Amino acid sequence: MIQHLTSPQAAQRWCKKIRKQHKTIGYVATMGALHPGHISLIDRARAENDVSIASIFVNPLQFNKAKDLEKYPRDEASDIKQLEIAGVTAVFTGTPEAFLGEARNKTTQELTDPGIYAKGLEGAHRPGHFAGVREVVSRLFSFVGPCRSYFGEKDYQQVQIIRQLAETLPGIEIIPCPTLRECSGLARSSRNLRLSEQGKHQAGIIFSAMQAANALWESGVRTPRLLQSAMLGVLNEGKIELEYAELRDPINWTGKQPESDLKQARVFVAGNIEGVRLIDNMALSAGNQA
Ligand code: PAJ
Repeated sequence: MIQHLTSPQAAQRWCKKIRKQHKTIGYVATMGALHPGHISLIDRARAENDVSIASIFVNPLQFNKAKDLEKYPRDEASDIKQLEIAGVTAVFTGTPEAFLGEARNKTTQELTDPGIYAKGLEGAHRPGHFAGVREVVSRLFSFVGPCRSYFGEKDYQQVQIIRQLAETLPGIEIIPCPTLRECSGLARSSRNLRLSEQGKHQAGIIFSAMQAANALWESGVRTPRLLQSAMLGVLNEGKIELEYAELRDPINWTGKQPESDLKQARVFVAGNIEGVRLIDNMALSAGNQA
C-alpha cells in the first residue's frame, strides 16, 4: 500500500525518519498527469534505492501564462493509483502555501537566477519558467533530502539547471533519464492526450527531423547551420507551427546556436500541432536511436 503524505511538511518528517534508518531515498518530482515517461523515472528510483518517493504538485511559479496553469490536467486520485501500481513507497501532495510559502507571491524576477542553461530555447520562449522551476525544486529537495533524484532528458535545460542547483546541495545526486517515446518516435508527454490520432501521426515529424540531423552528423558534418537545415527541410514539409529547431553544444552552453563546428551537439525542437505545444531534443552521436 502506498503511503500518501498530504503535505510537504509531513513528507519532510517521514523522510527524516527514513534517513535515520540509513536507508537511501530515490525521489521523482512531478506535476501529475502521469504517463509512462514519468513511470520510467519511478522504476529507476525504485531499482536503485531502498525507498522511493514521488511528489505531485502543479507549481504555479513555472507557468508564464495563467491560462496554461488553469488548463493543466489534474487527476490526483488516478495519479496516486498509478504510482501505487508502479510500486513507489510514498507520494506527497499539498497546497501552494505549503509547498512555496512566501515565494508563491513573488514575481519570477524576484526569484534566484536559474543560471546559464536558462538562456535561449525554452528560456527565451517561456520567460520566468526556469526561475519558477529552480525555486520549487530547491524547496522539494529541502523537504525530501534525497540521495538520488531522477529527471527526464526530455526537459534537457531543466535537468542542467537542477544539476547546477544540486552542486550547491551536498549529498544529492541528479540522475538524467532517457526520453521515453511512442512507436512513432513522439516523446511521451501529458500534452499528447490533447492530440487527435492524425495530430499524433503528424507529430512524428519532430523525431524524423532530429534523425535527419543525426544522419548528417554520422556522415561527418559538424557545422550547426547545415545540421539545422537538415531539420528544417523535414519540418517545413509538415503541419507544425515551428517555434525553434536549433543546435547547442551541451557542454559549452550558449543562448544562441553556435556558428563554428561542434565537437558534441544536441538538437532541440519546439512547435505547435493542433494548438498543442510540443518540445523534444536528442544528442547527436553515432548509432543514436533516441
Ligand atoms: P513534469 O512535466 O510532470 O515531469 C516530471 C518529470 O518527468 C520530469 O523530470 C520530466 O523531464 C520527466 N518526463 C516527462 N516526459 C518524459 C518522457 N517522455 N520520458 C522521460 N521522462 C519524462 O518537469 C516537471 O514536471 C516540473 O518542471 C517539475 C520538475 C516537477 C518541477 O515542478
